[in-house]
Amino acid sequence: MKATAAAHANIALVKYWGKRDEARLLPEAASLSVALDRLRTTTTVELGDFAADSFTLDSRDEDPSRARALLDAAGIRRRARIESRNEFPTAAGLASSASGFAALALAACAAAGLRKTAEELSALARLGSGSAARSVPGGWAVWENESARQVFPPSHWDLRFCVAICASGPKQVGSRDGMRISRETSPYHAAFIEQCRRDLPAALHLLSARDLPELGALAERNALRMHADALAADPPLLYWEPATVACLHALRALRASGVAAWPTIDAGPHVVAICAPEHAGAVVERLRPIPGVADVLVCAPAGGAHLLP
Ligand code: PMV
Repeated sequence: MKATAAAHANIALVKYWGKRDEARLLPEAASLSVALDRLRTTTTVELGDFAADSFTLDSRDEDPSRARALLDAAGIRRRARIESRNEFPTAAGLASSASGFAALALAACAAAGLRKTAEELSALARLGSGSAARSVPGGWAVWENESARQVFPPSHWDLRFCVAICASGPKQVGSRDGMRISRETSPYHAAFIEQCRRDLPAALHLLSARDLPELGALAERNALRMHADALAADPPLLYWEPATVACLHALRALRASGVAAWPTIDAGPHVVAICAPEHAGAVVERLRPIPGVADVLVCAPAGGAHLLP
C-alpha cells in the first residue's frame, strides 16, 4: 500500500509546445529530450482510507487534482497520501513536474500492486504533465503519441548540460496555458510545429552520429523558435529575464573563443548549456558570475524512473 520511486527531469532538444488533444494531452508534434541526473525527484505514495487525497512537494501542500487524474486513469480509487521531494533547488520552471509525475506514476502503481509496462507508465505520467511521459523511459527519449520511448540509453553520449538558474519564484504563465495561448493566438505557431516535424528526424540522425556542433545548433534554433512562437502570442509570453539574455550572449562569446556550448531554454528563464564534459568547467566559470544567475548545475544524461526500496 506504500511505495517510493525516483525519476529525473528532462530537457528537450526538440520541444513539445502545443497539444492536438487538450483533454488527453497528446502533442501536435513529436519531441526529443534527455533526462538529467542531478534533477531528481523522489515520490512516496501511500494508499489508504484517508479523508481526502493529499500532496506535498518539499513539505508544502499542493493541489492534488492533477495527481488524482493520473490515479483515476490507472484505476486507483483509494485515497492517496503523496509526498514528493526535489533533490535540487526548487527554482522557477526547473521542470520538476516531469520528474514528479513520472515518479508518481511508478510509485502509485507499485503501491496499488498494479503491474504496468513502461509504455503504460509513460502514458499515465503524461496525464500529469506531457513532458513527464519522457521521464519514465529516461535517457534520450522521443514522445509522439500516447507514450514516450527511449531511443538511446544515457551511456550513448557523455555530454554535459549546465543548467544556469536565472530566476527564483514561480513563473507567471505555466506551460499548459502558455502552449494553449500560443496555439490559439500566435501567428507563428503552425510554422513552429512544422519546424519541429523537420527537426526531429534531423536531430535523431545527429544524435546517432554524436555530432555536437550540429545538434547543439539545432537545439538552439528549436528553442529560440519556440520562444518566438510564444513571444508572438496574445497576450505575449515573455519567459526570459535579463540573465537569460546575458547567458545567450555569453555562450556565443564562448563559442567564438573555442568553447563549444549551445543553449536551450524551456518555458521559463533558465538556460541549459549543452557541451562536452571537458568544456563544462569553462561554461560554469563564464555563466556563474552573470548578475541574476543564482547557480549553475552541471548534469549528465540519466536513466528512467525506478522504484526505491
Ligand atoms: O510538460 P509540460 O506541460 O510542463 O510542458 C513542457 C514544455 C517545455 O518544457 C517548454 C518543452 C518540453 O518539450 O519539455
